[in-house]
Amino acid sequence: MRKKIVAGNWKMNLTLAQGEQLINDILQAGLKLGEGQEVVVATPFPYLTKAKSLLKNYPGFFVAAQNCASEKSGAYTGEVSAEMLQSINVDYVILGHSERREYFQESNAILAKKVDQALAFGIKPIFCCGEPLNIREAGTQNAFVAKQLEESIFHLSAEEFKKIVIAYEPIWAIGTGLTASSAQAQDMHAFIRSQVAAKYGNEIALHTTILYGGSAKPGNAAELFACPDVDGGLIGGASLVAADFVSIIQKLG
Ligand code: G3H
Repeated sequence: MRKKIVAGNWKMNLTLAQGEQLINDILQAGLKLGEGQEVVVATPFPYLTKAKSLLKNYPGFFVAAQNCASEKSGAYTGEVSAEMLQSINVDYVILGHSERREYFQESNAILAKKVDQALAFGIKPIFCCGEPLNIREAGTQNAFVAKQLEESIFHLSAEEFKKIVIAYEPIWAIGTGLTASSAQAQDMHAFIRSQVAAKYGNEIALHTTILYGGSAKPGNAAELFACPDVDGGLIGGASLVAADFVSIIQKLG
């Protein structure tokens, strides 16, 4: 059985007090996570320690950073290293989000270095991939995503790769209200799993968690999560509203 995850990516939103309130409201819901189910909260860097302490008595709840440096340490003003994240017990790190790729010029090669840094310090990457609208319209999304995987995570050894969670996020669906249909999501997730199988074998592919992200919300999460190759979601906007996030988590079943 593979892990099922709902991860909330707060992006650059909320004050510390608002974030604390949001986590407390989520916990208030008294969610009972099933076997192998996890909830991940990806907060801005300054709130990670607080989030970790709020969640420490809740099995199945984890924290994620939204980025880490591609270098180990040194004169890189403003950067946050994987080792620093490890030192405050961060569990996951989102890498390769399309907003990082677009606004901060993160290439597949830079992301490969970030993935290596995260793994070297025991932090599990949630590696994002996904195509822009023009690629989807041209019908070449599979080749586009395959290249992202090939150049950023397929250099890993099998043991390293087992720690990776993949998030498929079609860029045209992020924050737009346009969700991929469950058929589009399932097709891409199955394709990604087939690529993992070709590289690492069936056993590892069957155990790889692949999340969907892009305008997921309470109204469409159940249908998306029912797809055989969709193992949960990476949630942006809806993760900022406790009732919506809780409702999405409940759709894991
Ligand atoms: O990381 C989350 C994704 O970018 C999805 O964001 O749910 O607001 O579309 P969204």
